[in-house]
Amino acid sequence: MINSVIEEYRLKIDSRLDMLNALSDQPYDPVVEAGRYSLFAGGKRIRPIILLEFYKLFGGEDDCAYNFACAIEMIHTYSLIHDDLPCMDNDDLRRGKPSCHKQFGEGMALLAGDYLLTEAFGVCAKTLGLPSERVIRAISYLSSAIGGAGMIGGQVIDTAVSIDSEQMLFKMYSLKTCALIRAAAVCGVILAGGDDESVSIAENYAENLGLAFQIIDDLLDKEGNVDALGKPIGSDEKNDKTTALKLLGVERSRALAEEFTKNALEALDRFSGDASNLREITQMLLVREK
Ligand code: IPE
Ligand code: IPE
Ligand code: MG
Ligand code: MG
Ligand code: MG
Repeated sequence: MINSVIEEYRLKIDSRLDMLNALSDQPYDPVVEAGRYSLFAGGKRIRPIILLEFYKLFGGEDDCAYNFACAIEMIHTYSLIHDDLPCMDNDDLRRGKPSCHKQFGEGMALLAGDYLLTEAFGVCAKTLGLPSERVIRAISYLSSAIGGAGMIGGQVIDTAVSIDSEQMLFKMYSLKTCALIRAAAVCGVILAGGDDESVSIAENYAENLGLAFQIIDDLLDKEGNVDALGKPIGSDEKNDKTTALKLLGVERSRALAEEFTKNALEALDRFSGDASNLREITQMLLVREK
């Protein structure tokens, strides 16, 4: 049941992404091609789906939020392209295909990330059919969530700060992983016109989901199957990363992922609308293989 809901979203998201990243027979097409290569390599589309589900939960109608949802996927894809670069995690496989820099070279991969990030904000601004105050507020939230005090800050801690406590580990997760998921949930609420209390419950949901999500990502880096995962196994060990696995061990990591998932589900209980799709997605992500 949830799989068909996800598939339906995926088709619509992919067709909008296709339109938003069209080739234009210009000499700069190679950067668009490199961006499209990573965009359409087969991601789970979790973030745009979360945005669209929150939008629907708060009464959002029709397809007005699709541009915004696609922009978040473009930003996520940029973060993966840059994360894989030799100067970062140096990983050669992403979404089951050679990483962007393996396919197009480092320079073009760097530019493809820049392209996706930059274009994403134009796409957000073209969220038509909704009050402009909501769109501006959502763009502002998104830009903070992916900046220095958000996803990029998390990548800085991940790559340049020594992580020797659970607190620092979760700070890093909260920024590098939760922040964009939080933006997806919150922007869905904002675009639909939800109130501040709903925004803060959405934040709580996404924070807990993101923490569980990154713990599972770390576990899959050790225990996963490369064909299912579509990215290399052992990348964290290769890079001597401090992960949940390394700091807390498998059992405690798994127990924490379960606890964070439970917290996320409890946050959903506080909404009066039908959050059954979000509930199923949240549970599915705990037992995922990719
Ligand atoms: C991978 O995100 C990066 C992390 C934050 C762990 P996803 O697991 O959502 O990657 P795709 O989009 O499905 O490829
Ligand atoms: C990446 O975390 C998070 C971002 C890209 C912001 P990871 O480095 O663990 O993600 P994967 O495992 O390469 O997908
Ligand atoms: Mg990384
Ligand atoms: Mg990585
Ligand atoms: Mg990882």
